[in-house]
Amino acid sequence: MFGSIKSVTDDIIILENASGKVETTLIGVHIVFEEKYKIVCEITAISRDSIECIMVGEFIDNIFSSGLIHKPTHTSKVRIVNREEVISLVGSQNIDTPTDLYLGKSLIYDGFNVSANIDNLFSNHFAIIGNTGSGKSCSVARIFQNLFYRKENIPYNANIVLFDVYGEYHNALDRINQTKYCRCKNITTDIKNIRDDVVKIPPYYLEADDIALLLNADTPAQMPLIEKALKYVYLFTEEEDKVLDFKNNIIAKAILDILTGGKASTQIRDQVTAVLSTFYTKDINLESKIVQPGYVRTLRQCLNVDQTGKINTIQLVIEFLENYISEENVFDRNMKPTKYTLRDLYNAFEFALISEGVLKSDKVYDINNILKVRLDSIANGDYGYYFEVDEYITKEDYIKKMFTSAKGEKTQIVNFNLNYVDERFAKTLTKIYSKLFFDYAISLESRGGYPLQLMLEEAHRYVQNDNDINVIGYNIFDRITKEGRKYGVVLGLITQRPSELSNTALSQCSNYLVLRMFHPEDLKIIKSITHSIAASDVEKLKTLRPGVALCFGNAFNIPVFTKIDKPDPTPNSSNAHIGTQWFRKAESKIKDINQN
Ligand SMILES: Nc1ncnc2c1ncn2[C@@H]1O[C@H](COP(=O)(O)OP(=O)(O)OP(=O)(O)O)[C@@H](O)[C@H]1O
Ligand SMILES: [Mg+2]
Repeated sequence: MFGSIKSVTDDIIILENASGKVETTLIGVHIVFEEKYKIVCEITAISRDSIECIMVGEFIDNIFSSGLIHKPTHTSKVRIVNREEVISLVGSQNIDTPTDLYLGKSLIYDGFNVSANIDNLFSNHFAIIGNTGSGKSCSVARIFQNLFYRKENIPYNANIVLFDVYGEYHNALDRINQTKYCRCKNITTDIKNIRDDVVKIPPYYLEADDIALLLNADTPAQMPLIEKALKYVYLFTEEEDKVLDFKNNIIAKAILDILTGGKASTQIRDQVTAVLSTFYTKDINLESKIVQPGYVRTLRQCLNVDQTGKINTIQLVIEFLENYISEENVFDRNMKPTKYTLRDLYNAFEFALISEGVLKSDKVYDINNILKVRLDSIANGDYGYYFEVDEYITKEDYIKKMFTSAKGEKTQIVNFNLNYVDERFAKTLTKIYSKLFFDYAISLESRGGYPLQLMLEEAHRYVQNDNDINVIGYNIFDRITKEGRKYGVVLGLITQRPSELSNTALSQCSNYLVLRMFHPEDLKIIKSITHSIAASDVEKLKTLRPGVALCFGNAFNIPVFTKIDKPDPTPNSSNAHIGTQWFRKAESKIKDINQN
């Protein structure tokens, strides 16, 4: 059926259609132009007169190599790829090898399996993209089932973290626990759940950036207060004697600021009384004695406003406080608490707020006070539970414990169920955990010594151009996409809106599984990711069935349409059954209404 070459332009070849038949089943099939070199092309269009194909690579010693060096000539013999060549294109046919991961069946080559190179797939960031209902969650579940249901080549040392926004993977991954060697652990945000572990983050792991995210800081102007609070938290975890001079110094300075701030006397009195009601030491408090020859008055009495509206004894208070000011009182590096609670941090925030400067300006106070209020509502609200950790645990032990089951077995998948917290908080938890993993990976002496794959459902919500960059100077996922690979921290981005992902994130992925998609903006993004996909293949994406993906990247030899097997069990992600719900018990109700 293949006649002679009519034209060759760039990477497109037009052949004569010798049969004159329009055999559409050949679209997507590969043909070989054989002469000195074996040049591989994919058929992209057929008419009665001609067959159009696009050059994709060459077979060198029967191994496929993508990219073009040579072009066919008019004497090349044209034929459809043979069985060995198909395998070379779609990957290993063996479903249990240490090098390849079985993904599903080829859509073009009937009866052939499609496999991805495990090393290339999981050592680089990858993306699973497709409209809602196209089969992303099912594909993720199936990939892990294929990986962990294996009998021979067991990925025992894998560390995979799944951030499950809708809590849909629990069932789908649970059967992994019935295998001999592999385990999946659920860590949930449902505090009433007694079956699974509940999220617990030691508050003393939180760094200034984490706290900024947790408290929804929206301007960099709030960072100094957070940093100061973190420093001051030391004062609330130590015996008072050890930190007395520091506390005295800070309280004395704060009150001196108020006393000399030029405010009205009654305002001064009220503010000082308020500060000293919350923060005091055995040396400085409202009942401290201020001694003068012949008089002993308490600090409170010294703040009295007389009939002329003045605080007559203000100078006495100033002199009293100046005794406690010491410029030498600076924190040294060792003054870090080993552990603290959110309540300690809250106290430190209050203390940081009254310290130098903040009380002088209402505006500055307001910007910063909001953080304190938010921290209070987290510490005292439902989310406070996630930060209640009494013992001290190192980050290394914390992460290793996460990947160990209750029975002490190695756990390969940790599934975070984030379904019980609001979207913003889920986002914060995901970022805090991801930063923790990333920092840990960086801290290891052997680079990539503890490889981690972080799977993000609804990745566009996390890896988007959000305000993080303005407040803390970076988005953790942008950082991981740029630097994570070197340290073995790899992202799996699952999203229905690639156009809403940050540009860095998507362009740093090495492999893509693209399911059905029809939004023009999203299709444009797919086209822009790679040159190796024919325009007709991009067009095909619009009509794919659920569970069929175009897989491409360095784990695949060619872009390949794959029918991914339905997972068993499936995630809890099916559509709501409106038909059943609407008409459930409706019949008897309608009967009742008609009878009355
Ligand atoms: N590989 C598959 N084989 C057969 N059916 C599938 C397959 N994958 C998905 N489906 C069908 O499509 C439905 C939706 O799949 P899934 O929940 O994985 O979509 P999704 O892309 O994750 O959607 P969302 O963006 O809403 O999370 C499934 O309930 C199932 O019926
Ligand atoms: Mg889904």
